Amino acid sequence: MSLLKIRNLTVKFATAAGAFTAVDGIDVSVDKHEVLAIVGESGSGKSVSMLAVMGLLPDTATITADEMTFEGRDLLNMSAPERRKLIGREITMIFQEPIASLNPSFTVGFQIEEVLRLNLGMSKSQARARAIELFKAVGIPEPETKIDAYPHQMSGGQCQRVMIAIAIASKPRLLIADEPTTALDVTIQKQILDLLMDLQEEYGMGLILITHDMGVVAETADRVVVQYKGKKMEEADVLDLFENPKNPYTRALLSALPENATGDRLPTVSDFMAQENAQ
Ligand SMILES: Nc1ncnc2c1ncn2[C@@H]1O[C@H](COP(=O)(O)OP(=O)(O)OP(=O)(O)O)[C@@H](O)[C@H]1O
Ligand SMILES: [Mg+2]
Repeated sequence: MSLLKIRNLTVKFATAAGAFTAVDGIDVSVDKHEVLAIVGESGSGKSVSMLAVMGLLPDTATITADEMTFEGRDLLNMSAPERRKLIGREITMIFQEPIASLNPSFTVGFQIEEVLRLNLGMSKSQARARAIELFKAVGIPEPETKIDAYPHQMSGGQCQRVMIAIAIASKPRLLIADEPTTALDVTIQKQILDLLMDLQEEYGMGLILITHDMGVVAETADRVVVQYKGKKMEEADVLDLFENPKNPYTRALLSALPENATGDRLPTVSDFMAQENAQ
C-alpha cells in the first residue's frame, strides 16, 4: 500500500478575477522509504498541491480529488480531530520559507519544545532534553546554548536545521520538504540535503522533495514527477527521466542544467518551449 496516494487532485482559488486553477488533476503517490521529487518551474502548483495534503490552504481554496489517502486512510473526509492526529505527527512538512516559518519573537528552543509538548505530550523538561538531542541530530553546533537563541541570531542554514529538527521531532512516516535548500548557499545546500537523506534512511520515512533544481533531483530522488501549470507532464524513475525524458517540458528542464548550456547564456525553459512550439 502506498504511504500517500493522490488521484486527480484539483485546487481552485476564488480570486477577484474569478476561479483560478492552481492544481489541475494531479496524481502523486509515494511509498515507505521512497524519495519522490516534484519538479517544475515557479507557479506550477508544487507547494499548493502539498499544502492541500497538509490541509493548510486558505478558505478561498476548493480542493477535490478522486482519492487522497495516507496509509489507506481518507484524508479529505476524515474528521478534524483525526486529521490533527496525523498532520504534524505522521505527516510533517518543511515549508518553503524557513526563516518566515519561525516566529521571530520566541527562541528556537521554545518553538521546538512547544511542538514536542503539544504534539507528543512531553513534559517541559522532557521536551527540552529531546530538543537538544534533535538539535544535535541535525548538526546544530553547541545545541545547549543555541536552544536559547532567537531565529535572527542564527544563520540561514541553522534556521533550516531547526525547521528540519521540528519536522522530524515526531519521527514522521512522511516528510514533505518544500525547496528545503533554495535559500542557502551551495555548500550549505549540500550539507542540508545530505542530512535529509541520512534522516530519511535512518527513520525509513517517505520523503517528498519539492525542488526546481534538476541537480538535486539527480542526487536524491528515486522517482520524479514533473509538473507544469498545475498538470503532471511526466513521471518516471530518476534514471529513466534523465536518460530518456519523454515530455518536451522535461527536456526543457534538463537542457537548463549548466552542463547542457550552449552559447553565452543558459537556455531557459521558456526558450525551449518556444523552440518546441515553433516546430
Ligand atoms: N492563496 C492563494 N490564492 C490564489 N492563488 C494562489 C494562492 N496560493 C498560490 N496561488 C497560485 O497558485 C499557483 C501555484 O502556486 P504554488 O505556490 O503551488 O507554485 P510553486 O510551484 O510552488 O512555485 P514556486 O517554485 O515559486 O514555489 C500560482 O499561480 C500561485 O500564484
Ligand atoms: Mg512553492
